[in-house]
Amino acid sequence: MCGIVGYVGNSTEVVPIIIEGLRRLEYRGYDSAGIAVGGNGDGLQLRRAPGKLRKLEEVLHERPVHGTFGIGHTRWATHGRPSYANAHPHSDCTGRFFVIHNGIIENFAALKAELIEAGHEFSSDTDSEVVPHLIEQYYAGDLVAATRRALGRLSGAYALVVLSSTDPETLIGARLNAPLVVGVGRDEWFLSSDLTAIIPYTKQALVLGEGDMAVLSPVGPVISSIVDGSESVPRVVRVDWDVIQAERGGFPSFMAKEINEQPAALENAVRGRLLGHGRVEFVDWALDDTDLKAFQRVQIVGTGTAYIAGLLTKYAIEDLAKIPVAVDVASEWRYRPQPPDGRTLMVAISQSGETADTLAAARLARTQGSHLLALTNVVGSTLSLEADAVINMHAGPEVCVVATKTFVNQVACGLLLAMRLAQARGTLGEADRRELGAALRAVPAIQRQILGLEESIASLGRWLAGYQSAIYVGRGYNYPTAMEAALKLKEVSYVHAEAHPAGELKHGPIALLDEGMPVVAFATESVTREKIRSNVQESKARQSPILAIVNDGDSTLDGVADHIIQVPRLPEMVAPLTTALVGQLLAYHAALSKGLDVDRPRNLAKSVTVE
Ligand code: G6P
Repeated sequence: MCGIVGYVGNSTEVVPIIIEGLRRLEYRGYDSAGIAVGGNGDGLQLRRAPGKLRKLEEVLHERPVHGTFGIGHTRWATHGRPSYANAHPHSDCTGRFFVIHNGIIENFAALKAELIEAGHEFSSDTDSEVVPHLIEQYYAGDLVAATRRALGRLSGAYALVVLSSTDPETLIGARLNAPLVVGVGRDEWFLSSDLTAIIPYTKQALVLGEGDMAVLSPVGPVISSIVDGSESVPRVVRVDWDVIQAERGGFPSFMAKEINEQPAALENAVRGRLLGHGRVEFVDWALDDTDLKAFQRVQIVGTGTAYIAGLLTKYAIEDLAKIPVAVDVASEWRYRPQPPDGRTLMVAISQSGETADTLAAARLARTQGSHLLALTNVVGSTLSLEADAVINMHAGPEVCVVATKTFVNQVACGLLLAMRLAQARGTLGEADRRELGAALRAVPAIQRQILGLEESIASLGRWLAGYQSAIYVGRGYNYPTAMEAALKLKEVSYVHAEAHPAGELKHGPIALLDEGMPVVAFATESVTREKIRSNVQESKARQSPILAIVNDGDSTLDGVADHIIQVPRLPEMVAPLTTALVGQLLAYHAALSKGLDVDRPRNLAKSVTVE
């Protein structure tokens, strides 16, 4: 979604600070960008440009602005196509009030009609533009009061920042159903939709609560409720990601960096949780064995990659803890939630912790009496603040739009959760538990071995890029692994890919198979290994070129598959933590061979904070 940065403080030149913040947020959205700054003796200066951030930088090079405070925005379009007119900041008719916004104002059409009726002139197709016009409408000498009144008219979701020539060196930030943090530096203050933007300057932030606003001036922030102005106490968070970690560190792209970070990220996910003999504890989870035994079912929700991680978590919980698990796409479940029961453990999986659909589903489950467990990567995210308990996936910042290391850490945390539930319920024998624990500990080393195969996987990625479309198949735990691999391919290389349980091929998708439709089969260790071999044979018989991912020493598909990638053997439940990397590398190299921007694929956003 859109990225927001605001600054007020002791800097004598704010433009580089805002541009640097926007660069760090560009992964959230990148179809246009804009900046408004003041403190230069010339009133507020505005620069905007459609396209990526570098287009705005070119504009700033041709027509520089200077200032000591200001706001900046990168946009991911929801209302109105990417264009100069629709780029933020937006202003009122008089050019006094500037607003940047992330989210969707659901009642904007009615408000716009009302404002036009009152004589306001609009210059964009966005929902956001109603905000500065509303402030203009209500302004009678008190900016905070006018903003509060304007915000009171909005429904939907917003994180927004107001900058006005009426009150120089004052920024007003507000949030409702979208994230906004206040960065606390030394005599300087930031507003941002994401901690990533401010970590070069400060590691301390205040997380605004839902329905709160922050008025920032050089003397610091005042935080209050939008509705009644009563003082609010924000949560203080300290960020332990350092700048180096959040930058590319010598890799050609964030995607490459994040793929390569997986062994270290996985170690972080299990550290302190996977104890001796395969026992699992989550230190921050207050529930004891009696509580865990009381759950009669588990409901998992997520979207995109997080949903696929949820499928693997379902398999693991059902296999190990013997509890029925439902997993649903959050945007579906929220409109047909299953009947409430206080014995349901709701697991909401979200890297960002801000995905609107996942948040809505999680909130609904909680109001129905379910215990809400959040599996997320962002400390202080909305989901983590609202949950009864949080499992932090400890993957570190993920900047590339498509998920790689966070997928693997989600799956690892899901497996640890399954082991913890099984431990409480006594459904996992000691020998099996030890074996699983040992397999999990072996994962980082095996991931490194797979990363060592990059050159040969790269040539197969380039091979896949030569096709219009591909079919991915797997059975058991290999099926969600195939889904994630297909999702990666289409997200970054724009090669159409769909995944099917291999046993379903014959019920429909087989009609698509011919020499122009490659089949990528995840065929590693599984109770259904023999079955998938037959499915691969059936595909070969339809002339499909075959790429098979098998275990080291497995020669059963020699002569059938055109290409084979061999990976070390692991228990079926643990293997996706390693075979996922094969899918990622195939997609990465397919995209590179087409000259595409792997970090910022078209039309996608890292965190989708609208419905
Ligand atoms: C967006 C991203 C996906 C991601 C999904 C869920 O669609 O492009 O890569 O899987 O959101 O994000 P979350 O932050 O909830 O895990």
